[in-house]
Amino acid sequence: MYYQLNLRELTYALSYALDYVGIDDIMHGKRVAYIACEIGKKLGWRQSKLDKVMLMAMLHDCGVSSTQIHRSIIHHLDWEDSQVHCAKGATLLKEVPLYSDFADVIAFHHTHWEHFLPHIDEEVKLYANLIYLSDRIDALRSQFGAHLSHEKEYIRTIIEQQTPSMFAPKLSEAFVHISQTNLFWYYLEPEAIHYYFRDWIEQGEIQTVTFDLLKKIALMFATIVDEKIPDQKRHALSVATLARYIAGLCELSLREQEGIEIAALLHDLGKLRIPDDTLLKMTSLTEEESSQIKRHGFDAQIILGQIKGFEKMTQIVSMHHEMLDATGYPASLGEAKIPLEARIVSVANTFVNLIHQDNMHPLLSAKEAYEALEAMVGEHKLDATIVHKIAVHLETCYEKVSHP
Ligand SMILES: [Fe+2]
Ligand SMILES: [Fe+2]
Ligand SMILES: [Fe+2]
Repeated sequence: MYYQLNLRELTYALSYALDYVGIDDIMHGKRVAYIACEIGKKLGWRQSKLDKVMLMAMLHDCGVSSTQIHRSIIHHLDWEDSQVHCAKGATLLKEVPLYSDFADVIAFHHTHWEHFLPHIDEEVKLYANLIYLSDRIDALRSQFGAHLSHEKEYIRTIIEQQTPSMFAPKLSEAFVHISQTNLFWYYLEPEAIHYYFRDWIEQGEIQTVTFDLLKKIALMFATIVDEKIPDQKRHALSVATLARYIAGLCELSLREQEGIEIAALLHDLGKLRIPDDTLLKMTSLTEEESSQIKRHGFDAQIILGQIKGFEKMTQIVSMHHEMLDATGYPASLGEAKIPLEARIVSVANTFVNLIHQDNMHPLLSAKEAYEALEAMVGEHKLDATIVHKIAVHLETCYEKVSHP
């Protein structure tokens, strides 16, 4: 099926998930996009180039799922393993036709200006170095602050010292020039940065998007989330494959089935905001940690709710931990308020979790996992009709989870 979407709005909203990896220093991608765009403007670049710069910059850290890696990126001007997230990001972007053009640039977004091999395309080089420079400016700002004039001067000095070895002279010069005004720095503040992009998003065209493209975009973000939990690499994909299959068994319309599949791919997007240590913790959680985990459906809702055309998917995602007996989270909704689509994703998510568990437990067999679902039906937590469909097609369901 086809979807009418503003792709600027879609990318902008989904990139919030990447920004969440910063935990207490979010919006990094947006600030990098802003800085890069302002430097591009200063160099007189045409709008189509600036559009590309903004999108690339918003997605530049798509290879970072871990809180720990995000910290390294922010706290060191340069470090040994920086190329790992560049390569990961490039691999992800290559799979999505809308973003595949960005892959080469992202692959080089931590490459020193003087280290580029001669065969690299000049435009790729400049774009990559612009993102690198903007990224380092934001990292310095996060680390040392940029409220007082000596702090701003300190950032400029470091950038100048690293030019031309790390940064292209014409890019650094443009930064030194535009960063003299207070206005430049005001936009980097959390309340202001959104306004910088507002008109740009509103002016984005509504385009006809195929399900295939939408799925590839969702799959890219699902992979980023799944990367955060090494033992559950394909969790979102398994949930999506199973949920789509169950939706078919429930004879939902093609549009509803597709909506369920996209929602299932994106259901754990909010987990990017959970610190690695909490998400991977094997012992019991403190109240603080458990509240960080329990808000992931809400955090995903806040992201997806910004996308016009995603209303149904947003609702499904926001409810994927709700239970029929109103003991779920985050809204403790009861049976009457949870639509069938959300129940399907919830059952699929539960079934996948039962089978995959964590590395402390052996995997459950199909029969054991089904019995656990049945018990939850008995407690009036899960939908009996959906669980019955799984019972009838148990082997296929198990296969979909094991090999999504
Ligand atoms: Fe970055
Ligand atoms: Fe979840
Ligand atoms: Fe999940």
